[in-house]
Amino acid sequence: MSHQNIKSPRFQNFYIIGVISAFFIFGSLVECRVPSSSKLNNFDYTAINCRKHSAILTDFGAVGDGKTLNTKAFNSAITKLSQYSNDGGALLIVPPGKWLTGSFNLTSHFTLFLQKDAVILGSQDESEWPQLPVLPSYGRGRDAAGGRFSSLIFGTHLTDVIITGNNGTIDGQGSYWWDKLKKDELNLTRPYLIEIMYSDQIQISNLTLINSPSWNVHPIYSSDIIINGLTILAPVDSPNTDGINPDSCTNVRIEDNYIVSGDDCIAIKSGWDQYGIKFGKPSQKIIIRRLTCISPDSAMIALGSEMSGGIQDVRVEDLTAINTESAVRIKSAVGRGGFVKDIFVKGLNLNTMKYVFWMTGSYGQHPDNGFDPKALPNVTGINYSDIMAKNVTIAGQLEGISNDPYTGICMSNVAIEMSNVEKVEKVPKKKLPWNCTDISGVISNVVPQPCELLPEKEKLECPYPSDKLAIESVNFKTCSYKS
Ligand SMILES: *[C@@H]1O[C@H](CO)[C@@H](O)[C@H](O)[C@H]1NC(C)=O
Ligand SMILES: *[C@@H]1O[C@H](CO)[C@@H](O)[C@H](O)[C@H]1NC(C)=O
Ligand SMILES: *[C@@H]1O[C@H](CO)[C@@H](O)[C@H](O)[C@H]1NC(C)=O
Ligand SMILES: *[C@@H]1O[C@H](CO)[C@@H](O)[C@H](O)[C@H]1NC(C)=O
Ligand SMILES: *[C@@H]1O[C@H](CO)[C@@H](O)[C@H](O)[C@H]1NC(C)=O
Ligand SMILES: *[C@@H]1O[C@H](CO)[C@@H](O)[C@H](O)[C@H]1NC(C)=O
Ligand SMILES: *[C@@H]1O[C@H](CO)[C@@H](O)[C@H](O)[C@H]1NC(C)=O
Ligand SMILES: *[C@@H]1O[C@H](CO)[C@@H](O)[C@H](O)[C@H]1NC(C)=O
Repeated sequence: MSHQNIKSPRFQNFYIIGVISAFFIFGSLVECRVPSSSKLNNFDYTAINCRKHSAILTDFGAVGDGKTLNTKAFNSAITKLSQYSNDGGALLIVPPGKWLTGSFNLTSHFTLFLQKDAVILGSQDESEWPQLPVLPSYGRGRDAAGGRFSSLIFGTHLTDVIITGNNGTIDGQGSYWWDKLKKDELNLTRPYLIEIMYSDQIQISNLTLINSPSWNVHPIYSSDIIINGLTILAPVDSPNTDGINPDSCTNVRIEDNYIVSGDDCIAIKSGWDQYGIKFGKPSQKIIIRRLTCISPDSAMIALGSEMSGGIQDVRVEDLTAINTESAVRIKSAVGRGGFVKDIFVKGLNLNTMKYVFWMTGSYGQHPDNGFDPKALPNVTGINYSDIMAKNVTIAGQLEGISNDPYTGICMSNVAIEMSNVEKVEKVPKKKLPWNCTDISGVISNVVPQPCELLPEKEKLECPYPSDKLAIESVNFKTCSYKS
């Protein structure tokens, strides 16, 4: 498969990084009596907020040999630095090395900074991962009905929290958890790599995230979030390794990310069936731009399937997908309730896709039998324009819900080249370019010609908002670290 070819040079890079960091660790052993804070060079970085205080992980007894557990060092560093929350905030520097740790918690007005060749390694010892109750908008865990493991980097009820660096790495060492899932040995839901709950002013940027046990980045019940400059890598057959999942979040900007994963590159969510309806917190005011995605078995961007709190005002611009199952997919089901509305997609460059357009009304998967079969999702106002796709198997599989059609679908300026296999074999009965049920909308200048439920309207440009979201006007400051 072509994704093997795409991935192997990257793993060679990790090997090289490993060799380089081993060199750094060895170097630091020689000088271990010198207080580490005096050794770091001054540097600049960009962030939504700068910090008055700073410390280095090694000041708290951390050892970067890839073997020593540093959970206590992370926790005591952050507990110590939390005293500066109301005095200009604090920066914790993770220097080059391999820092094995279990789950730890962030604090407010705080920046975690991973230097180049710093690698945080997730422990494979379950006792290093505290348990948390299930999310209220989900009612149960995704992997198991009981509780869940706290994420590797976790935060709740925070304001102004930053995780960034000079492309340092967070490695979840997820194979341990993937194996347990496959053997059905989990009685708690797997941890995520980064989860921030009930928080605002969040920045996650300029890092490489690899091999997450499950989802990579999960902001939930939060607002004012910028996620940029991430390289997220997981084997394309690893289970549920979604890239970025904004969940019941408002004002989110996701830009300049590169994601290769075993599940959706980005999935916007807002709770599950009766639990999500009751919690009632939508995901809204989200802009996603300049993403490159490779995900052979999943979507570049999924809306749902857990969307019971609603998804509204999502703007998607200038995206590239290669060898990905579908582009911007809507997933819902009877029992979900909620809504997906005011979705705007503009400027997709797609190569080797199973579906360009995919909407599903029968996704199924309920938390339990307590869902309300009368709770129907309202899916309306879905606008797509300026889409080029090559080597496509099916142009559109658009399936709404009977007695609950997906409405207000608009497509303009779409050029889809079907794969040669289809042209040569000509098996139209099995492989129609379009298959539409329980949907309505209009199209203009779409090739190949869509289904009858999407009639042509001359010279139509599907709308895209001309205003800006508040999160788009947040600028980064240049901050200086001085030892
Ligand atoms: C991230 O890295 C890019 C490229 O090196 C740099 O321009 C940018 O200022 C950095 N910081 C953020 C927050 O993006
Ligand atoms: C991290 O926060 C969670 C949730 O508040 C809590 O259960 C856990 O004990 C905290 N961990 C530490 C090490 O303080
Ligand atoms: C960050 O590191 C990853 C993994 O080695 C690499 O693929 C990516 O290009 C790097 N990003 C930047 C901005 O250097
Ligand atoms: C969790 O699962 C393991 C097997 O993977 C089992 O040994 C253990 O007893 C279970 N714990 C609980 C609380 O069910
Ligand atoms: C496009 O989106 C707008 C806003 O959500 C919606 O009202 C409309 O129905 C959609 N479709 C068309 C054809 O404008
Ligand atoms: C076209 O897509 C098929 C999978 O459907 C893939 O095997 C093939 O390599 C792709 N061709 C090109 C030229 O990308
Ligand atoms: C769905 O949402 C649209 C737009 O907000 C609204 O006009 C319509 O009445 C809603 N439909 C249902 C069945 O709730
Ligand atoms: C069209 O989609 C429906 C589900 O919406 C499915 O039952 C049917 O088999 C599909 N038809 C073809 C020809 O793929």
